[in-house]
Formats: sequence, structure tokens, C-alpha cells
Amino acid sequence: MARCVLAGWRSTSPGKYRGSRKRADAACGRWRRSGRSVVTWEDLRWLREVWPGRIIVKGVLTGDDARRAVDQGAAAIVVSNHGGRQLDGVSASIRALPEIVAAVNNQVEVLVDGGIRRGADIVKALCLGAKAVLLGRAYAYGLAAAGQPGVARALKILQADADRTLRLLGCPSVADLNSSYVDVPADW
Ligand SMILES: Cc1cc2nc3c(=O)[nH]c(=O)nc-3n(C[C@H](O)[C@H](O)[C@H](O)COP(=O)(O)O)c2cc1C
Repeated sequence: MARCVLAGWRSTSPGKYRGSRKRADAACGRWRRSGRSVVTWEDLRWLREVWPGRIIVKGVLTGDDARRAVDQGAAAIVVSNHGGRQLDGVSASIRALPEIVAAVNNQVEVLVDGGIRRGADIVKALCLGAKAVLLGRAYAYGLAAAGQPGVARALKILQADADRTLRLLGCPSVADLNSSYVDVPADW
């Protein structure tokens, strides 16, 4: 059934959407309405064809997938298990990060999310090669508690904690962070 819907959707020429944000949005809406739940490399190839802008691939947890995404035109990778909200038994993002940073080999930027709750979590991720971290629940807690000012407060707390962690490490700036500042267990 899903394959039939996909076949119909795929029959649309990629060229029809090229260069037009409105049409690309329409294509994405059509995809969502198709009810298909599996995203494949073929989908990324199609998106690369129809979308002229930068594509960031989120949800990558292995070095092989990261390489493949880069080879297919990803401008950046987000190492993520979507906060453990899909398959809660998959690897923690921070655990997958070093393998992916190595696989990408500075070709594109690597971001990470999942479980960032304190400034020290940000620092650890940067030490392991992430260019930046993303937040899901940390800002949402602030939002739930106090609306927009709550989000600003949550970000301030994280920033202050990250700055304090840098000082306690004796590291002058985030640009100087590297893997020498963390001990990664040998069995990771
Ligand atoms: C309520 C909620 C909805 C989310 N919806 C999506 C989604 O539609 N697509 C997606 O890629 N990730 C989604 N995520 C995952 C976040 O983008 C992010 O990867 C995750 O929350 C990061 O982990 P953290 O919450 O521990 O910071 C959602 C997260 C939450 C909490």
C-alpha cells in the first residue's frame, strides 16, 4: 500500500519543483500526506535534486551513514537519536559522535543533540568534535515554566554553566576545546 502511494508520488518529475521554495514545500506536504513512514537514501537523493539550498541531515548515528549523507550532498550532519523518542534503545548521540566526526573528516560540520541539559554537556560534545549542540527539551522546560523569558533564562543558565566549566578546565575558549579534556571509556 505504502509502495503504491510512493510510486504515485515519485511519478512527479523532480524538475517540477526545482528552484522554487513554494513548490518544494508543496512536495514535502504531499510526502507527509502520503502516510509513508520510511525515509530512504532515495528520498535524500530526490530532495537534493529538487532543493537548491543547503540540506542538513539529522538523525545520523553511524559513521557509514554520515559518509553516505555527505557523499549525497549534505551540508552538515546532526548526530541525533531524536531525544530517544523514536527507538529508545538506540545509541546515545554522544556515544556515536566520535565515530561520525572521524568518518566525516572535516568535510562538513557535525552538530549533535540529545540529553544536553547542562553547560558541561555542551563542553563535552564540543570536546568530542561537535561544532555546536542543539537543544530539544532543555529550552522547552523553560518555555513551559515561564514562556519566552523562560527560554531566555534556560539559555542563560546553560551559557553560564558552559563558561564556568571552561574556567574550571583551565581552557581559554571553546575554540581550544579538544578530546584531551575528556576521558572517553575504552569500551565506548
Ligand atoms: C516534543 C518533541 C517533538 C519533537 N519532534 C521532532 C520531529 O518532529 N522531528 C525531529 O527530527 N525531531 C523531533 N524531536 C527531537 C528533537 O528535534 C531533538 O532531536 C531532541 O529533542 C533532542 O534531545 P533533547 O530533548 O534531549 O535535547 C522532538 C522532540 C520533542 C521533545
